[in-house]
Amino acid sequence: MFLESAELAALERRYRAALVNGITGYKPANLIGTVDRDGQSNLAIMSSLVHLGSNPPLLALVMRPDSVPRHTLDNILATGHYTVNHVAGAFVERAHQTAARYPREVSEFAAVGLVEHWQEGFPAPFVAAASVRLGMALRDHQPLAINGTHLVIGEVLCLEVPDACVQEDGSVDLAVADTVALAGLDRYYRPRDPKRMAYAKPDQPPRVVDAAIGD
Ligand SMILES: Cc1cc2nc3c(=O)[nH]c(=O)nc-3n(C[C@H](O)[C@H](O)[C@H](O)COP(=O)(O)O)c2cc1C
Repeated sequence: MFLESAELAALERRYRAALVNGITGYKPANLIGTVDRDGQSNLAIMSSLVHLGSNPPLLALVMRPDSVPRHTLDNILATGHYTVNHVAGAFVERAHQTAARYPREVSEFAAVGLVEHWQEGFPAPFVAAASVRLGMALRDHQPLAINGTHLVIGEVLCLEVPDACVQEDGSVDLAVADTVALAGLDRYYRPRDPKRMAYAKPDQPPRVVDAAIGD
């Protein structure tokens, strides 16, 4: 398939959305936990989390336009806090179901059967079943004029990763936590044949450090 912009524009709406959502490649699968000012919890799957910097530790989410109610966005803007919870193989189905548009007064935690985990002193709910969890504080919010999406930038206030995933140099082997990857809006993958490479240097050839880090 080879398409140019006029052909892309002429595609049937859902076909184009599926195609364009798939072409960014494998993405992270995360559940975003929030609560509104009245204590009503909310959970939504999001694949748009990207790393902005390590010091301070900043991550950005792209959120859909607010042409319909967006509970996660509203809650983050209202409370300033949210959680990021890696989706693991054991609960992919329940995680995916959080994308359904439940009414505001329905918590996706209860609706899909995922248990809330509240950490002392942190004002947003984590997912009990997730073993990799981040507590985030909103640091910046940019509505993007180009298409009405929202860039939500947060700082990692706390992180929880199983000891077995963290290697001596701080690098993280997500396969140990069974964290899945996402493609498009509907395909979940477990990593196969992972390979860890040494830091790339111009005067040295590529060096494999570990060819099966998930085994
Ligand atoms: C696999 C997958 C990934 C998604 N990623 C995002 C995303 O990155 N940003 C976003 O705004 N919505 C994303 N969505 C859609 C939200 O999950 C969906 O709009 C959900 O209803 C939002 O819930 P809320 O209104 O409670 O926030 C994704 C949906 C799926 C199925």
